[in-house]
Amino acid sequence: MFILCSTLAILTSTVLAIDVQAPVEPTSGALTTIHWTPDPAVPVFSMELVHPDFNDALAIANSVNGSLGYLKVDLPAVPADDGYTLQFVNISDIDDVYATSPVFAIAAPPTTSQAPTSALSSTSISASAPA
Ligand SMILES: *[C@@H]1O[C@H](CO)[C@@H](O)[C@H](O)[C@H]1NC(C)=O
Ligand SMILES: *[C@@H]1O[C@H](CO)[C@@H](O)[C@H](O)[C@H]1NC(C)=O
Repeated sequence: MFILCSTLAILTSTVLAIDVQAPVEPTSGALTTIHWTPDPAVPVFSMELVHPDFNDALAIANSVNGSLGYLKVDLPAVPADDGYTLQFVNISDIDDVYATSPVFAIAAPPTTSQAPTSALSSTSISASAPA
């Protein structure tokens, strides 16, 4: 019984070769870092961004060197929403999925039209003046 269970565990870990982490606080259209646990069985893969509302997965990186363990990628401009996952797929067949990340949310990009830097600077200067 124990031997049978061990064999199943090995088979399972062979199928799910890579452990993909969800990106931390990713923002639409911005640089984000994706981490995974390298597996020699998967030396190269492509990354796809998947959402239930998308008709097709969006390719965000092609022919990634799997031994690196992380990659900085520019996310495409996508709707700010929950329910995104990353899929690591065969570089010649995106339906051949090696691994899927946990579900995560992508935030809207910050608005840059307000709060000029000079206003922030003068606030911090006056706040520190009494000391
Ligand atoms: C992947 O990266 C590793 C470590 O930097 C390097 O040794 C290896 O040659 C690279 N593989 C490919 C296919 O570029
Ligand atoms: C990727 O897909 C192609 C085409 O289906 C297949 O020939 C190849 O063996 C696959 N590569 C891996 C590493 O699974």
